[in-house]
Amino acid sequence: MASSREVVREAGRRRTFAVISHPDAGKSTLTEALALHARVIGQAGAVHGKGERRGVVSDWMSMERDRGISITSAALQFAYRDVVVNLLDTPGHADFSEDTYRVLTAVDCAVMLLDAAKGLEPQTLKLFEVCRQRKIPVITLINKWDRPGHDALALLDEIERRIDLQPTPLNWPVGIAGHFHGLVDRETGDMIRFERAPGGAGLALEELLDPEEAGRRYGAEWTTAVEELELLSLSGADYDEESFRAARSTPVLFGAAVSNIGVRQLLDVLVDLAPAPTARPADDGTERELDSDFSGFVFKIQANMDPSHRDQVAFVRVCSGRFTRGMIVSHGTTGRPFTTKYAQQIFGRERDTLDEAFPGDVIGLVNATALGIGDTLHTGPKVRFAALPSFPPEHFAVVRAADSSTFKRFRRGIEQLDAEGVVQVLRSELRGEQAPVLAAVGTMQFDVAVHRLSTEFGVKTMMDRLPFELAVRTTLEGRDVLQGEAGVEVLRRTRDGALLALFPNQYRLRSVSARHPGVPLLPLSGDE
Ligand code: G4P
Repeated sequence: MASSREVVREAGRRRTFAVISHPDAGKSTLTEALALHARVIGQAGAVHGKGERRGVVSDWMSMERDRGISITSAALQFAYRDVVVNLLDTPGHADFSEDTYRVLTAVDCAVMLLDAAKGLEPQTLKLFEVCRQRKIPVITLINKWDRPGHDALALLDEIERRIDLQPTPLNWPVGIAGHFHGLVDRETGDMIRFERAPGGAGLALEELLDPEEAGRRYGAEWTTAVEELELLSLSGADYDEESFRAARSTPVLFGAAVSNIGVRQLLDVLVDLAPAPTARPADDGTERELDSDFSGFVFKIQANMDPSHRDQVAFVRVCSGRFTRGMIVSHGTTGRPFTTKYAQQIFGRERDTLDEAFPGDVIGLVNATALGIGDTLHTGPKVRFAALPSFPPEHFAVVRAADSSTFKRFRRGIEQLDAEGVVQVLRSELRGEQAPVLAAVGTMQFDVAVHRLSTEFGVKTMMDRLPFELAVRTTLEGRDVLQGEAGVEVLRRTRDGALLALFPNQYRLRSVSARHPGVPLLPLSGDE
């Protein structure tokens, strides 16, 4: 048994975060650069195996074993300074933002990546909003400073104005985007001059210049940077721990992930400022202390990680206690004992047995088919953490097995996709079991569902899109009234039993609501 002091100490060494961004801002590039800086790989490109750099992936595998670090397509773990960093992966495409939101329930901090030339993009705004709602502290990295882009002050102004978040830069660029020499460290006032490593794939070369030397070399550009910093101090844009942790301010850094510029500074900020795991609130209002018995929850289920095995992995974020492989834990939903013999750290097809984990870490449970998204595992006193958010679906389709003889497999497939959170499944007596309605935040979720029903369950399906665009929550009494309204349908979401009324548009919702003021039609927030 780990002493409670050991658990608290280990948890204090964890930094568990996700990089989030609008697609193309450089998330994969930054992930590679972070791993490179942690010196787990010699050359960027090994993590995601993009383009011509793909060849280094196999070297990475052996290195992974040699150095005892691990990457999964869900979580990359590495040591940096005296800290264990867990970097959780989020899908790049906006259609899978529900997955991203779920991953955000498993982190203690997020790194928001902005493209200096694009500023705030639609997905950036949504993600900032989710972090604010969930009170997830955000560190912002303004990326691609090696290329022409917006003015630094204008970017900060945009963050403050459009997301009502106080930006507090920790460093500041010398030279405009695209003509960039280095960063002023606001704490010391020194300049870090960067030079791209030959070929760009290694660590950038850094040179430390004191203010005098920086002024001599960079004249007007240095003076501009210093003046802008004075302006920022006057406007109260100084780092403040309390507002950062409460998600009211965001420390801002500048960099160019592709040249590994500003990435070490980001890692240092993660170690120095990002919060370590803390006691997690349970749904009865109590908190599960870090050093109590083991607990964790499933935040992601991924099927077919290994095509030759056709398996399924449940990823669990450890919330309290020490996890050791082989431990018998209880499944919060059913109360049944659950063996963890197959706990692993997983990267692509490579898997490493995992022997122990502490709060903040992620474990992959292979073929844990009894587990669903949001389920809790624990030893000792039972705990349930707050349910994972379901997001308001905007696309709806009815699906049926094309051949009725495959119905059993079809039903199993639908249940599986529901448990994994691939789509939301809605049912009604009227439509019957044969024709569930699938609800999605993005239409690519439907493509995944149809593909998986066919390849994994051997069921060809027929899918018809339904003319609804929004869902609101209602009650049993509400359902009886709404059944008389044309173009409105009420179904039950299997995941949580909620009754959802589907409407073709806001206009129809408003007119029905005006006609039946007594019927509850409650918006589905992102955080029900
Ligand atoms: P994502 O995961 O957020 O979708 O973005 P990704 O890392 O794939 O990066 C998107 C594009 O932006 C890539 O170019 C990448 O090289 C480029 N990029 C990332 N960081 C920087 C940076 O700091 N500066 C500059 N100038 N570019 C950056 P691509 O042409 O789409 O792909 P590739 O062929 O370069 O891999």
